[in-house]
Amino acid sequence: MSASRPAGVLIAASILDSDLGRLADEIRRADDAGVDRIHLDVMDGHFVPNLTFGWRTIEAVRSATALPFDAHLMISEPARWAEAFLGAGCDSITLHVEVDPPQVRPALERIRAAGRAAGLSVKPATPLGALAPYRDLLDIILVMTVEPGFGGQAFMADVADAKLRAARAWLAPDGAGEVHVDGGARAETAEGVGRGGADVIVVGSALYRADDMRAEVERVRAIASAARAAALG
Ligand code: DX5
Ligand code: ZN
Repeated sequence: MSASRPAGVLIAASILDSDLGRLADEIRRADDAGVDRIHLDVMDGHFVPNLTFGWRTIEAVRSATALPFDAHLMISEPARWAEAFLGAGCDSITLHVEVDPPQVRPALERIRAAGRAAGLSVKPATPLGALAPYRDLLDIILVMTVEPGFGGQAFMADVADAKLRAARAWLAPDGAGEVHVDGGARAETAEGVGRGGADVIVVGSALYRADDMRAEVERVRAIASAARAAALG
């Protein structure tokens, strides 16, 4: 394993299924439970059949924690909004490769120009090959293991098996950059998630519905990290 890759997986808490009326407290609760990142699911009711929140909400909760903010933009016009999400204090911004092609490169370039990490996400049915034209601008590949739009869905193990290792190898065999896996991750699926060698695991409902969030963070991290270490050798 390359020295640039930490031995354990990182856990990003998706606040989608948190108590949104107390969002700043819910972010602090994840911080106290030991997560590594906050994952912010932005939906526009157009790219996905659901609406969540935008850059103003992110800006309003930015001071709740010192943890990095990973924005996951499930919106049709990421180039139009990239500047606003950068201004709101996002450390990384990941958009979807399935949006109109003229939206993709300008958004990634703007994110990179601001010195933040730029990412592209692929829905379950989208092949990794769709990312090829943007290779020079990618710091993150986010592999969706549910259809984007809602938390609490079942993990698609076949998608994880087909894409995670391939994404890791394609992004950088030496371990630079990050592969994120998003959707359905929990203790019961963490082995399959870790086996693919993902660097960051997004966990939403399993954390916010857990009786003991810290215990759940530790369970997912331990199971996934062991599976990842075994798979990577
Ligand atoms: C789905 C989102 C995910 C998801 C994670 O569109 O991108 O971040 O909400 O939640 P769980 O862990 O419940 O699948
Ligand atoms: Zn997400």
